[in-house]
Order: sequence, then C-alpha cells, then structure tokens
Amino acid sequence: MVYLDNSATTFPKPDKVYEKMDTLYREAGASPGRGGYNLERKASLIVERARASLADFLGSSRPENVVFTMNATDALNMAFQGVLKEGDEVITTVLEHNSVSRPLNVLAKKKKIKITRLEPENGKIKVEDIKKALSRKTKMVAITHASNVTGWIEPIFEIGRMIRDHSNAYFLVDAAQTAGLLPIKVEEMAIDLLAFTGHKALYGPSGIGGLFVSERVFIEPFRAGGSGRDSENEFYPEKLPEKLEAGTQNLLGIIGLEAGLDFIRQTGMENIRRKEEELKQSLLEELRRHDKIKLYGDSDSSEGLAIICFNIENLSPEESASILDSEFDIAVRAGLHCAPYLHKLLRTFPQGAVRVSPGFFNTQDEIKALIEAVRIILKKI
Ligand code: ALA
Repeated sequence: MVYLDNSATTFPKPDKVYEKMDTLYREAGASPGRGGYNLERKASLIVERARASLADFLGSSRPENVVFTMNATDALNMAFQGVLKEGDEVITTVLEHNSVSRPLNVLAKKKKIKITRLEPENGKIKVEDIKKALSRKTKMVAITHASNVTGWIEPIFEIGRMIRDHSNAYFLVDAAQTAGLLPIKVEEMAIDLLAFTGHKALYGPSGIGGLFVSERVFIEPFRAGGSGRDSENEFYPEKLPEKLEAGTQNLLGIIGLEAGLDFIRQTGMENIRRKEEELKQSLLEELRRHDKIKLYGDSDSSEGLAIICFNIENLSPEESASILDSEFDIAVRAGLHCAPYLHKLLRTFPQGAVRVSPGFFNTQDEIKALIEAVRIILKKI
C-alpha cells in the first residue's frame, strides 16, 4: 500500500524507534520515579535523558520545564485550563486545529473567556493584526506554527518578539505539525507555552507528547494524583515537571520519542524537509496540469510544509479518498481535517478536501502511483 497521511501520523517509523522500544522496555520497564531500586533507576534515567534531549532540541535550557503529555491535545488542554481564568481574553486564528479551537470554545462557555479569531493574508497571520487585537485583558495569544490543512507556516519568531515587547500576554504555539520538521527555539522565539506530539514529525509512537512551560507562566494542574515523591503533601507538588505529570509515565512512548529525536538529529531536519518537498513538487506538477482538479491554499508555494489539499471536480472528497483506498490502496485523508474554521476560509466547508501529506519514507515511485491513480479517476469521470 501507499501511505500518504503523514500529517495525521508518520508511518512507518524509523527501524531504530521500533527496536529501541522493544529492547529498552524489556530492559528497564519499571515505573519511573517509584521504587528506588535498580530497575526503577534505569527507567527514571531514560525519562530524564529524554526530557533533557527534548529541552535541548526545543531550545530550552531547563529540562524540568518540559512535561510529558499524551499528545498535543492533552498539552493544549493542560495549558488552556491551567492558565485561563474567568473574563480573560485570548487571541487566536482561523487556522487552528480543533485541539486549540474546541478547548477555547469550551472555556468561552464555562469561564466566559473572550476569543478573537484572526484571519491570515496570503497564508500568514499579520503580526500587526495581533498587535492591534492586544488589550490589557489579553492573557494569551494561541497560534499554530503551521496549518495541518494547507501547510502554511506562521511567523512565530516575529509574533513572539512583538508580544514580549508590547504586552504581558503569554505566547502559546501549537507545534503539532512542526516539531521535528522546523527549527523551534522556545527561548529565542519568546514562546511561553509550546504543545507538541510525538507521533507526527518527531517520528515517535502515538500516546506521547509534551508541553514546554516557560518560567513566566503560572499554571495550575488540571489533574492531581501520585507523583512518586512528596507523598505526605495532601495536594500536589508545586514544582515542574511533577506538577503537571500526575500518574505513571508512558515509559514506552518516551523511549520511542527519544529514538525519534535521535533519528531526526542524525538525518537532519533540512534533509527530511527537502525530501518531503521534492515529493510534494512532483505531485503538484501533475495536479496543476488538470483543470478538473482544484488546489487549495496556495499549494503551489514551496514555502509551506509538504501538504497538498485538492478536490476532483464532480467527486466529493470522501468519494475521491475512498476510490484511492479501495481501488489503488493509497491512504490519504479527506474531510475537514479537524480544522473547520480554515475550511470555511478556503470555501471548502462543510465537505472539506482531499489531503495528501508525504513523509520522509515515501518514494517518488509512490507519488507516481498516486499520479497514475488520479489520471485513471479523471478518465473515468
Ligand atoms: N491532527 C491530525 C491531522 O491533521 C490527526 O490529520
């Protein structure tokens, strides 16, 4: 089969990820931070080594400020629920995935926070628009680093600096699509909260992700439980990372995530991106030839991530994806991609579009197979 849904989750993973998950989990599969015996110390060492490796990768000098979560959604909920209070204002965008939009909508209902949603111009949110929208009540600016629908990349460095210079608001970046693909330096970029997931461009398994929390942020845990230390405390440790990591860690996920990081360091982010870009360009060249194919979101531009969104005339996105799957064994994702506000902007709401997202392990032959399949579909219709 041909797998072209790497924006949902990268597949396959590097061999080393599978291997390390197998060997290290067999060697040290105890409960990190609980026990104090040799096997537990091995497990704890794995967790703390992975934490330090992640902090270094994300440009943070403080490993303890990187907390492990289940995924980006978990990290985002932790950030929104732990930081926002009744009456706060949040500036966000129409580019967001529902993992940002929905928790904010819930808080608008429950805590009466006020949400301002900005629209991009040529795929980019203008720093000036954010500046204009800031008020004394703005508690947070929450923005995706890159869209999971169009691949548009947002100017987070400029946004971060502007916010730091002009307000006390926290800057939250959703790096679900970019951690592992684009350089992120939280300290340089003045990022206060960064949510990421392990199973996409970090080439780790599903079920593991993280949240970086800067020193400036006051965050309350939205769950409590065992921390493995300070057990006499009736509440919960105030210190990071324990403050946000109640319960036994996902050791297997953390092993895989660290192995994914090693793969990225060895391969080089720019090489991963270049490979994906070449695959994207080959496909775009073909799709542009057909007037029965409508491309969305400036897919022609080589500036964005390797994500291509299109529809075939007279076929719904579901029909196109279903034919690709059942007749050609090609996996792509159709629909709204959990980003309804952006599809409204693209005028593809409510049916959505077909999304193709090549990854590092795809080949030009696989892109040729998709091109051939699209040609056959076009002939039939
Ligand atoms: N957020 C993932 C996607 O874009 C699942 O498909």
